[in-house]
Amino acid sequence: MFNGAPLAFFDGPAGSQVPESVITAMSNYYRTCNANSHGEFVTSMETDAVITECREAVANFLGAQSIREISFGQNMTTLNFSLSHALARKMKPGDEIVITQLDHEANRGPWLNLAEKGMVIKEVKLNRDGRLDYNDFESKITKRTKIVAIGYASNALGTVNDIKLARALSKSAGAFLVIDAVHYAPHFPIDVTAIDTDFLLCSAYKFYGPHVGILYSRPGLLAELKTDVLRTQMQEPPYLIETGTLNHAALAGVKAAVDFIASWGTGTTLRQKIVSAMQQIGEHEHELGKLYYENVRSINGVTVWGPDFSDKNRAPTISITIKNITATEAAKKLGERGILVWNGDFYAVKAVEVFGLVEQGGLIRTGMLMYNTKEEVERLIAGVEEISK
Ligand SMILES: Cc1ncc(COP(=O)(O)O)c(C=O)c1O
Repeated sequence: MFNGAPLAFFDGPAGSQVPESVITAMSNYYRTCNANSHGEFVTSMETDAVITECREAVANFLGAQSIREISFGQNMTTLNFSLSHALARKMKPGDEIVITQLDHEANRGPWLNLAEKGMVIKEVKLNRDGRLDYNDFESKITKRTKIVAIGYASNALGTVNDIKLARALSKSAGAFLVIDAVHYAPHFPIDVTAIDTDFLLCSAYKFYGPHVGILYSRPGLLAELKTDVLRTQMQEPPYLIETGTLNHAALAGVKAAVDFIASWGTGTTLRQKIVSAMQQIGEHEHELGKLYYENVRSINGVTVWGPDFSDKNRAPTISITIKNITATEAAKKLGERGILVWNGDFYAVKAVEVFGLVEQGGLIRTGMLMYNTKEEVERLIAGVEEISK
């Protein structure tokens, strides 16, 4: 409760709330088997089991074939920097990397930094409708393209990008495809094998888990890379990109988060349950997103940025601006009503620059997750209506 109103959590794109089962799994880890890994005693062996079970759960979550394809790190950004260092060792000056104007900086910065090593970074343009310019994308691919780094869904506008095309274009150049699925993962089932990507990253704190970054690598690929590793660590996938001791308690929490999601689905295998749950969760969130989108766009002075809801293939994350009130003021006023929304650029700073919204403080972003309700969305619409007057 805040100011007498129940809290409505629309801040999910910056991190979801965490179910009791995740909290219990993390505290149980500390209570029962807190130790470092790879020892010859019981708590260490239990810790090894926690790590392996978490890899199995995440492999199921992403549709990966084996736990050797699943690496963990502090967060997505740190893993992507490590990946960029490793891929850079396979490249030479003049080689090209294609990124997009719509991506979060976590999938731009690591690649933009490689300009220092002589790599040429090209940016796919963002259209005013919140979608990438796919003609521009095609024109940016050349024989020298070595990496295509693209988001699966935009954390600022909810746009879902054409990953099939990104795969086809990157393949035509023989380039690696790196997908940032941080914003897509909480809303849709992911099948890394079907999309045939080389790398895919996501972050468990966006889908009901604790702060753990996840990297999927195509089978065998990590072993071919020269990563930043100590000679004392295991020189094979999935460990090759994992530096230092992992956060074991958090990994217990990540497994519990995947089990939590699966508990809402049906089927006989864990994978079937996850896919079925994610489909249902996605539908619920889409309905809420559509309700907000359809109502908020007709409020006087409100502009909605990003694609409409005619297509199911859209994340339930909606950003608006309001005439005569900055995003900061709007978020503050909604916050006073117990309605939690983010303001600013959410690190999708390039998109906000392209839209010319920096001066007015960026966007007011609302994200739907499985725990949001129709009543909360109605409160949100009424709140936006009030503060727009
Ligand atoms: C689309 C997207 N990519 C990457 C990130 C960075 O993830 P992390 O905080 O795990 O580094 C975020 C975080 O908000 C995000 O929304």
